[in-house]
Amino acid sequence: MIDIHSHILPALDDGARDMGQTLRMIKQAELQGVTTLIATPHHANGTFINESAVIRRTVDEVNRQLQERGMTVKVLPGQEVRWFGRLMKDLENGKLVTLADSRYLLLEFPSSYVPAAARQTISSLLAANYIPIIAHPERNRAIFQQPSLLYDLIREGALSQVTSHSITGLFGKKIQKFTMDLCRKHCAHFIASDAHHETGRCLNLPTAYEYIGEHLGADYVEGFISRASLVVQNLNIETVEPIRPARKWFGIF
Ligand SMILES: [Fe+2]
Repeated sequence: MIDIHSHILPALDDGARDMGQTLRMIKQAELQGVTTLIATPHHANGTFINESAVIRRTVDEVNRQLQERGMTVKVLPGQEVRWFGRLMKDLENGKLVTLADSRYLLLEFPSSYVPAAARQTISSLLAANYIPIIAHPERNRAIFQQPSLLYDLIREGALSQVTSHSITGLFGKKIQKFTMDLCRKHCAHFIASDAHHETGRCLNLPTAYEYIGEHLGADYVEGFISRASLVVQNLNIETVEPIRPARKWFGIF
């Protein structure tokens, strides 16, 4: 099992506080059957700046600590990049890190809207042969209220990653139902933990996969698991034609 979105690197963002917590989180993942974690610290989200050099240095240090302890989980570099105006330039300058150095970039929108210019950036990324993976679209207010925003981006060639905790219900019933609808309609291509700590927003991929298996079937689970593996191998991902999600999600986000 591969987790493509996690905040396990020590003291870089609001994830693991220190190396001790990093190692405890990775142990938790190992016990759940996770073999590879992509470390995706926040970048350019208004609070945290984590450019390539510091991420790579920290990933190396974590892997060294894992080896010393005889742990077999591998940590690979990545980044959760909040959309910003200079994104394409910084990608060219080597400040950004794609997932496991593949052509897949984990891209986060602000939590309440999808900037028009971000849509332009997605087109530019695709034209430059990068595939943006939109991080947790189910937690974006504008997408929740108007899912066609996401559907259109997916039709254009973007992929999306929903959070395991959205599936298991940590963010409430409405988010859970919306997330399941996105999964069912092929508007979500990955499930990742987005783990920040050992409890609460922790590593819980198996529980989410179990829920998907029960409600959508084993084929969906297999699809999610194999696509995560294709990202790490930097291979092409064949997707199923998405179905436009119904706009039936009203009320408080
Ligand atoms: Fe995240």
